[in-house]
Amino acid sequence: MRRKTLLTVAVISSLVLIAGTVDLNNLLNYEDQNTPSYVIEDNTPQDNEISDEGATLGRILFYDKKLSKDNTIACASCHLQEYAFGDTALVSTGVNGVTARHSMRLVNARYSDEVRAFWDERAVSFEDQASQPIQDHVEMGYSGTSGDADFEDLIVELEATDIYPVLFEFVFEDSTITEERIQKSIAQFVRSMESFDSKYDIGRAQVNNDQMSFPNFTSEENLGKQLFFTGPPMGGAGCMRCHDGPEFTLITNTDNNGVIGVANDTSSIDLTNTHSPSLRDLVNPNGEMNGPFMHDGSLDDLEAVVDHYNDLEEVAANTNLDFRLAGAMHALDLNQTEKDALVAFLHTLTGSDIYTNEKWSDPFDEQGDIELIPLEGVGNQDLESAYAFKVFPNPATTRFKIELKEGFYQLEIFDSNGAKAKSRIIKSQHTEDVSELPSGIYTIRVLNLSTQRVSSQTLIKD
Ligand code: HEC
Ligand code: HEC
Repeated sequence: MRRKTLLTVAVISSLVLIAGTVDLNNLLNYEDQNTPSYVIEDNTPQDNEISDEGATLGRILFYDKKLSKDNTIACASCHLQEYAFGDTALVSTGVNGVTARHSMRLVNARYSDEVRAFWDERAVSFEDQASQPIQDHVEMGYSGTSGDADFEDLIVELEATDIYPVLFEFVFEDSTITEERIQKSIAQFVRSMESFDSKYDIGRAQVNNDQMSFPNFTSEENLGKQLFFTGPPMGGAGCMRCHDGPEFTLITNTDNNGVIGVANDTSSIDLTNTHSPSLRDLVNPNGEMNGPFMHDGSLDDLEAVVDHYNDLEEVAANTNLDFRLAGAMHALDLNQTEKDALVAFLHTLTGSDIYTNEKWSDPFDEQGDIELIPLEGVGNQDLESAYAFKVFPNPATTRFKIELKEGFYQLEIFDSNGAKAKSRIIKSQHTEDVSELPSGIYTIRVLNLSTQRVSSQTLIKD
């Protein structure tokens, strides 16, 4: 990719980004995250590998409330970084009420053979998933039905912003905004959310497989691990038959696990939930739950989860119970020590970076604004070649107009000492207010954001 060469040449500075600023010259690292070598499952499709550019755009979209009809709800409203991108609420609040199911933690969603998304797997991929909440009447409201605006209206709104045409140009080398491009960039950001710095990972890196005792574990944690990875006929809990390590995402092709409730509705049942988030980061680094568990949020803590599997009874109404949990052969008979050990083991699957790393944090400032620092074309003489543009009136008193070829530009105004007096992203037709600048001679410099070409002119301010 042309842009990548430009970016690798750029020296990665230790510049600390301030909230509200995204520097396109110094992207945060999403594409090369040192995933441990024992992690093998990955549902990334060939045509949407994670790039720093794509995930940066995805991050901005994920946190942007503009993606909802009344500008109040972002993806991040129901998927919070502080809860491993889940929600502590039983059901989450959207623009028109609450969701039918409990929100899912998104951490490590990439590291699964399962390509489908949602508790009932109704989305065929994370790309397909990414535009569904936007088009859901309850969640973000661009449904095109019930009097709602539709997805095209959202695209028109994004086109009218200062940032998105520039960002789509930056990522796709063409400023056109489409549903597919939105889906791809959001899916890249979602897949980038990874957590592999847990106590489990520290131990796993020191041994050859999950069966071996981990040197950094307490004996209780090692017992819990053994129960997790051993089948019920051998006295274990058999959790690995569906949530296999070291990823702890759910395998494909399971039926339901006997949790058949509907959130906030005791009179209905729902047999369709056959998918689960990864069992990593069920609790945060302080051991507090990242939300209630299961699609209906019916299990309030990990003790209740273990009891559910230990005491699971077959009910006639559940015609979709997974065979691995059916029949007397599969009954668990864990004692209290074993149950406690299993819970202690589940606590070792929690990392810390995912909760605080800036690359997954809200890029908007408190006013909901974002400032893009565009690519620097400076210093690259090959790219520097003047092109004509109009600045008038010149001399100017309060404002001047600038006319450029179609496109997006970084406008910079330097005073006669070479100090930058102003900088902003503009479209090809622009009026700039210079009433606050002292009289003098200024240099107007414009950088075309797609071609990287720079051109300058002198402006006299009366
Ligand atoms: C109003 C709350 C809400 C909003 C807004 C929301 N989500 Fe969700 N999200 C949920 C709920 C609830 C589920 C589970 C729904 C289900 O399975 O029926 C979910 C599930 C998901 C999943 C599936 C995870 C998996 O492992 O299968 C992904 C991915 C996801 N959301 C991403 C997003 C993205 C991206 C956005 C923004 C475009 C978004 N969500 C907006 C509440 C929300
Ligand atoms: C037959 C496959 C299967 C087995 C075996 C199994 N699970 Fe599950 N698990 C599931 C499914 C399916 C879900 C999603 C269920 C739902 O919400 O309706 C799930 C959900 C969970 C959740 C909730 C995750 C969340 O984000 O809310 C936890 C925790 C969990 N399982 C732990 C365990 C433990 C511990 C064991 C071993 C005692 C175990 N599971 C055994 C299939 C299985």
